[in-house]
Amino acid sequence: MNKDILWTADELIEATGGAVTQPFEARGLSIDTRTLQAGDLFIALVGEGRDGHAFAADALKQGAAGAMVHDDVARSGPLLRVDDTLAGLTRLGGYARYRFGGKLAAVTGSVGKTTTKEMLRTALSAFGRTHAAVASYNNHWGVPLTLARTPRDAEFCVAEIGMNHAGEIAPLSRLARPHVAIVTAVAAAHIGYLGSIEAIADEKASIVQGLEPNGIAILPADSPQLPRLRAAASGAIVMTFGADASADVRLVHDEQDADGSLIHVDIFGHTASLRLNAPGRHMVMNVLAALAGVAALGLDPSRAVAALEDFVPLAGRGSRRQIGVGSGSVLLLDESYNGNGASMRAALEVLRLQPVKRRIAVLGDMLELGEAGVAEHAGLADAVAASVDCLFTCGPLMRNLFDAVPEAIRGFHAANAAALAPIVAKALRGGDAVLVKGSLGSGMKRVIDAIRAADNSTHTIAGAG
Ligand SMILES: Nc1ncnc2c1ncn2[C@@H]1O[C@H](COP(=O)(O)OP(=O)(O)OP(=O)(O)O)[C@@H](O)[C@H]1O
Ligand SMILES: [Mg+2]
Repeated sequence: MNKDILWTADELIEATGGAVTQPFEARGLSIDTRTLQAGDLFIALVGEGRDGHAFAADALKQGAAGAMVHDDVARSGPLLRVDDTLAGLTRLGGYARYRFGGKLAAVTGSVGKTTTKEMLRTALSAFGRTHAAVASYNNHWGVPLTLARTPRDAEFCVAEIGMNHAGEIAPLSRLARPHVAIVTAVAAAHIGYLGSIEAIADEKASIVQGLEPNGIAILPADSPQLPRLRAAASGAIVMTFGADASADVRLVHDEQDADGSLIHVDIFGHTASLRLNAPGRHMVMNVLAALAGVAALGLDPSRAVAALEDFVPLAGRGSRRQIGVGSGSVLLLDESYNGNGASMRAALEVLRLQPVKRRIAVLGDMLELGEAGVAEHAGLADAVAASVDCLFTCGPLMRNLFDAVPEAIRGFHAANAAALAPIVAKALRGGDAVLVKGSLGSGMKRVIDAIRAADNSTHTIAGAG
């Protein structure tokens, strides 16, 4: 078997129960013609407002090996016809998981999933070929897609499992059947749908329902929800990580600076030191979780530690960039991908660590908080006052924060990110550090784009931007 062939025609038919119009084999899987590679099987998923069937003909024109469809499409050609393309993708995921002979780690949690997943990718790559989810692919199509893309010769697979609503994690975990399941943290994200922090903890803990026999659950030792998580994981072997004295992977000491931290960690009695080039205590917690995952897979933590020294924050999740403004430069902290109370506090703390003349925060609404929304926003006032010299906000919920901070640090409040973006870009001066953050749906990327458009230098540094 050529290991570069991801799916043979026979496997596609066997896995999905569908029929092919002519035999073909796929080297990869695509659900989006904008990122399609020649040789991919294009899967025509039906999304909100968009139906992939409309792109099937284009996909074939672009060199797709075939297209998985459930409706008639204009063009004939190498098609895999199934009853339902989402169910077909899910079956591919399940089949690929049975085919996979390596070890699978799954990551869930209220914050830090993608970062921890990428840290695990970095760490596990030191031991063997590692496949991991793209970006934040963590939902009912993202998890099966990750599984179905697992190369034949992969030794490790890292999946991210997320949720918006109760009941979403367990079935995805049962599909992924992890050997190691990590809960990074429990915080008030999506609390509007879940109702309480306890309900969020229960939902995160349900990842253990998919664990393989003798699988290991990795839980956050510092979380007030640990007892609840433990109770839910009672059928599994449990390992913990954190600063608490009881943690199996324990932070002994850390020194934070503007660019990262120096960490001393005790991993089941084995001590190690690590320079992490991603600032903030939250990054330390993510790296502990990743190291716990490595240890749970029976691998040598010291090799993982060495690999993790190369880790840098991801785009939209703490990536850093210098922007030329006037004759000076502005440090841009791009946190535009995600916003909730826990991640806001983590990012504000990183801003506080920056040795600059003026610290600016540009914050957009944190969504999906339901009734807790107003209090969660206003409740950030102390953290903002401790870290920020000038606050810009946008959105109806952030108005509550803007009004709650001392007048001296109020910059400007706008209705939305589009209105705020040019105002922020104009306000920046050399020697500033500017943090941009909000829920993805608040569109804070517009502010990032406006700041980057104002960049008068061609020189960029530090991080994937
Ligand atoms: N352990 C942590 N504790 C608190 N905040 C964190 C932690 N890790 C990351 N963050 C913050 O959360 C943001 C999002 O990080 P990341 O993308 O890793 O999380 P995620 O759980 O994958 O999010 P999503 O639910 O959007 O997929 C980061 O930009 C950072 O501000
Ligand atoms: Mg994510």
